[in-house]
Amino acid sequence: MKTRQFKLGPMDNFSYLLWDADSKEAAVIDPAWQPEKLQEFIKQEGLKLQCVLLTHAHPDHVNGVVFFTRADNDLPVYLHEADYFMLEGKPPVLRPVHDGEKLEAGALRIGVLHTPGHTPGSVCYQAGGGVYTGDTLFVGECGRVDLPGSSAEALYDSFVRLSGLPDGTAVYPGHSYNGDKSTFGVQKEYNLYLKLARAGRRDEFLKAVR
Ligand SMILES: [Fe+2]
Repeated sequence: MKTRQFKLGPMDNFSYLLWDADSKEAAVIDPAWQPEKLQEFIKQEGLKLQCVLLTHAHPDHVNGVVFFTRADNDLPVYLHEADYFMLEGKPPVLRPVHDGEKLEAGALRIGVLHTPGHTPGSVCYQAGGGVYTGDTLFVGECGRVDLPGSSAEALYDSFVRLSGLPDGTAVYPGHSYNGDKSTFGVQKEYNLYLKLARAGRRDEFLKAVR
């Protein structure tokens, strides 16, 4: 599997393309702000877009979805149901994702980890040796929990889960804060929140995120 990161928009959001090198079947994660740049790359590489994957429903991660669903009415858009209430304008084909599920998008296989906290329906997508963490985990940081539907307690539980991922797993965050990419090995050492969760220090975690 191949992947490409795109830094787009005024908030340094990341959109991602994943694709199978042989079949060229592709998925886009969190298309936003300048979807035409993603489209340009898709065209240039001859990729066949199979689906849209959303890590959560905040507008800065989803405002480019309509660009793709307008061009292809049958394009499935995946999102955890707990975030449906935040979506402005439902895509024609909206499909729920569930924790532990393996999505099939052409030749791609994409795992789903439900990681609530930043929003109730936040998920991380696991594919090709990397995890696409949305606004749950950033390089050296964690997502905000002061927004409607956020929960510091849920984020703690999500971080405990993430801290169990192998060190070599790549981290692909939803914004360029402190850095664009890392590994769980490095984050276990330098990300305060992941360190606290890994050590079971819940009270300190909850104090630190507030
Ligand atoms: Fe967000």
